[in-house]
Amino acid sequence: NTKIAILISGRGSNMIALAKAIAAPDFPAEVVGVLADKKDAAGLAIASDMNIATTSFERSDFTSKAEHEAAIHDQLVQWNADIICLAGFMRLLSANFIDKWTNKIINIHPSLLPKYKGLNTHQRAIEAGDSEHGCTVHYVTAGMDEGPVIAQAKVPVLSDDTEASLTARVLEQEHQLYAKALRDVLERQKP
Ligand code: GAR
Repeated sequence: NTKIAILISGRGSNMIALAKAIAAPDFPAEVVGVLADKKDAAGLAIASDMNIATTSFERSDFTSKAEHEAAIHDQLVQWNADIICLAGFMRLLSANFIDKWTNKIINIHPSLLPKYKGLNTHQRAIEAGDSEHGCTVHYVTAGMDEGPVIAQAKVPVLSDDTEASLTARVLEQEHQLYAKALRDVLERQKP
């Protein structure tokens, strides 16, 4: 079974959806731990209730980004993680960290990349008058929201959409897409 670690910063709804999908008997992976960069990330308690190991590393407890990332890296090694899934992990990982996990880190982003890298993606799609929007699962490389796309899901943008309504429509798709994309990654990595 491929060992999956999930990194979060907040509520963790993608983490929960992913962990539930992975728990299905026919899913060829297991979640070895959920790691947050916030001690009070709501998703940690939920992961814990799902009997998943959890830990947190606050940036402010370390003197440098390098030391913070080294602690995260060591924990992932200790968990024997094969694949790292970023699920609302709102921190840019350095090239030095990413180089240790080439093709092993994947991320979900709430836009149809390469459109709308960064934050406030839903508001930007509405303001641009886009007729469709969506989410992307991609490999993480050193450039922010730039790695090769694994899978995307599209939703329509409706004329009366608010940021909240569009966010909710995309999030529903995110919860389906992440598990599907991870399955594809595991399939491709089969020896
Ligand atoms: C999700 O919409 C995810 O795509 C986004 O943050 C949200 C986290 O929600 N990620 C990014 O914006 C990364 N740049 P969740 O904690 O409920 O999964």
